[in-house]
Amino acid sequence: EPTDHGSAPTEGLVVVSNREPYSHSYDGDEIVVDRPVGGLTAGLDPVMQRAAGTWVAWGDGEADREVVDDEDRVRVPPEDPAYTLKRIWLDDDEIDEYYYGYSNQVLWPLCHSDRGKITYEPRFWERYREVNRRFAEAAVNEVEPGSLIWFQDYHFGLAPKMVRQELGDDAMLAHFWHIPWPTWDDFRVCPQSEQLLEGLLANDLLGFHVGRFCAQFLEGVQACFGDAVVDWDSGVVYHDGSPTLVKPFPMGVDAERIARLAGSDEADRFWRDFCEEQGIADDAVVAVGVDRLDYTKGIPERVRAIEYFLDEHPEYRGEFVYVQKASESRSEIPAYQELQREVSETVERVNDRFGTDDWRPVVSITERLSVRALYGLYRYADLALVSSVRDGMNLVAEEYVAAQLDDAGALVLSDFAGVDETLGDYAYTINPYATEKFADTIYRTITDSPDERRRRMRQMRQLVTAYDLDAWMDDIFETVASLRDESAE
Ligand code: ADP
Ligand code: G6P
Repeated sequence: EPTDHGSAPTEGLVVVSNREPYSHSYDGDEIVVDRPVGGLTAGLDPVMQRAAGTWVAWGDGEADREVVDDEDRVRVPPEDPAYTLKRIWLDDDEIDEYYYGYSNQVLWPLCHSDRGKITYEPRFWERYREVNRRFAEAAVNEVEPGSLIWFQDYHFGLAPKMVRQELGDDAMLAHFWHIPWPTWDDFRVCPQSEQLLEGLLANDLLGFHVGRFCAQFLEGVQACFGDAVVDWDSGVVYHDGSPTLVKPFPMGVDAERIARLAGSDEADRFWRDFCEEQGIADDAVVAVGVDRLDYTKGIPERVRAIEYFLDEHPEYRGEFVYVQKASESRSEIPAYQELQREVSETVERVNDRFGTDDWRPVVSITERLSVRALYGLYRYADLALVSSVRDGMNLVAEEYVAAQLDDAGALVLSDFAGVDETLGDYAYTINPYATEKFADTIYRTITDSPDERRRRMRQMRQLVTAYDLDAWMDDIFETVASLRDESAE
């Protein structure tokens, strides 16, 4: 899909993330390209296509090594190369201890305020440090005079300080933390809270999705370091002399492209075929959920609310279908295996309880969908259920809104998702744990007048279109430019 390449926002941009935007795998003897699922890569790839820099990431595809040059680089997107992907190889211990270990069994649950899911082992931390060092060195190798190094997410809490020590004060370092930042009371559970804060404070700019996460970060810094000075008006924090600007940038989606593809023939065709295959009638009420199978997304809570809804409103049996597009994620981790089990058991139970010969309340899509098909699903679903128990932002909510070409759909949204700060006034808000109210809100959403639904959707579409991915990116790069100007003064 061609993207509009605007002017490069910054010279020599170097992005550092764990997950790569394109991975290569074998299909028989043939090498095929996949696009991993997740908000970070979905959001950053269009940014890089416009900025044309280098993206440093873990090469984890089984055929990734086959397509790189001597320096482990490959130009992407494969069909229309716009930037360079520099792959870093991780060995089994690194994958186990840095990725599955410290990143996803310590920092991920910690930042999503789920202490019970934290599994900490000292070797996780050692390896996290080593891998941060490796990525920091790789980033340093990519810099040119005037480069911006832009770290992504919780996999790289230490790398900024390592790069700073190498390159000195002149280097421009930014970081976007895609997941929540918890309260200090939650964050101090982390055995390495101080080292991580210091690592992040080596950045010139540190971005979160919403203001609350910025405030919680700054409060943590103040609580942790006696000498830290926070200027609450500007969001600048001084620790060890050098300033870090901490600022919210609520991530957007490419709303124009989503709308265009949602209106494509392929989107229509997918929807028609899908309804026919599944026996979904024209006048059925269809709800959709699209997620990685992650315990932060509130998927069992959602299915339980649907069960309660069907209990309370038997008139919707046979009429209401929940379409679940879930993809497995981080499956080596016991908590994720447990969640996968819980989701399938809950879905099975609900389908067994209510299902009839020609109707199943929950339909799971297991095959891969093209983006056009996915956007078709969004477009024609009457409601989207986003029920995160914690979420940095949640791009699915924005994608759903962007695909509502007729403004006819409704968004049921947990106010524990970051995106609630931007769309919460017009979404149908829920608490995923409050099963009865969640079910009641589903009912209200369906029975509200079409005018009211349209009014809400129109407002949300305006917001999603106005602060889209380009606006997000411009906001970040303009902030970096103003920091450069200030330091030149
Ligand atoms: P996260 O980054 O935690 O996975 P987000 O909602 O912010 O959550 O972003 C998820 C991204 O991945 C969206 O662009 C969404 O379209 C895509 N995605 C998530 N789950 C699936 C799925 N099961 N199938 C296809 N795409 C998915
Ligand atoms: C979230 C994280 C990303 C991550 C994505 C997918 O969006 O913020 O950093 O890439 O989930 O998870 P995975 O572990 O597969 O990269």
